[in-house]
Amino acid sequence: MTKVVAIYGSPRRKGNTALLLKEAVQGAREMGAEVEEVVLRDLKMSPCLEIYGCKNSGRCAIQDDFQKVYESLLVSHAVILASPIFFYAVSAHTKILMDRCQSLWVRKHWIEATSSGQGPSRRKGLFISAGATRGKKLFDGTLLSVRYYFEAIDCELWKSLLYRELDLEGDVLKHPEYLEEARRAGSDLIRAIDSN
Ligand SMILES: Cc1cc2nc3c(=O)[nH]c(=O)nc-3n(C[C@H](O)[C@H](O)[C@H](O)COP(=O)(O)O)c2cc1C
Repeated sequence: MTKVVAIYGSPRRKGNTALLLKEAVQGAREMGAEVEEVVLRDLKMSPCLEIYGCKNSGRCAIQDDFQKVYESLLVSHAVILASPIFFYAVSAHTKILMDRCQSLWVRKHWIEATSSGQGPSRRKGLFISAGATRGKKLFDGTLLSVRYYFEAIDCELWKSLLYRELDLEGDVLKHPEYLEEARRAGSDLIRAIDSN
C-alpha cells in the first residue's frame, strides 16, 4: 500500500494550509493510500544542534518526537508538506523539521551514498503553501528551500500548490476551487506513484 506522510507546518490547527492539506489527505485516502498525519505544533522537537551525532548511523542523536517522524519518512512513498509563508520562508515549526532531516541527508550522502526511497523510484513530494500578499516573488525563497529539503529526503518535488492573498484563518474557505485543487492533487499524487 502507498504510504504518505502529511505534515502540517502551520501553528494554526484550522488555518489555510491545514484546510488545504486536509483536502489533499482526503484525496490521497480516496485513492487507497495509507496517510499518516503529523501535526508539527503538537510535537516536542528541538532544532538541529549541528553536533553531527548522525554522522555514523544516519540517525539523529537528539531523542525527541523527531525520531518517530524519521521512521515514518523512511518508509514513505510520498510526502505532503504544508506551510504558511512567514517572512518569505516556511514557518519555524516546518524549518525545525527540515533541519532535523539533515540526518537523512547524512544517511543519503555520507552513509549509503544511494537512494533510500521506497520501490523503484524516489519519493514524490507535494508542497502546499499560502501567503497574505500577492507579490510575484512570494514563494521564490521557500520553493528553493523546499526543493532542496525534499532532495535531502530523497523526494522529488512533484507539484506545489501556492496560494496568494490568504491571510485570516479560514480565508481559503472563500475559494472552494483551491480546496478542490488540493483534493485532486492528493489523488493525482497517488495515481502518479501507482503508475510507476
Ligand atoms: C510571523 C508571520 C509572518 C508572515 N510573513 C508573511 C510574509 O512574509 N508574506 C506574506 O504574504 N504573508 C505573511 N504572513 C501571513 C501568512 O502567510 C498568512 O496569514 C497565511 O494564510 C497563514 O497560513 P496558515 O493559516 O496556514 O497559518 C505572515 C504571518 C505571520 C504570523
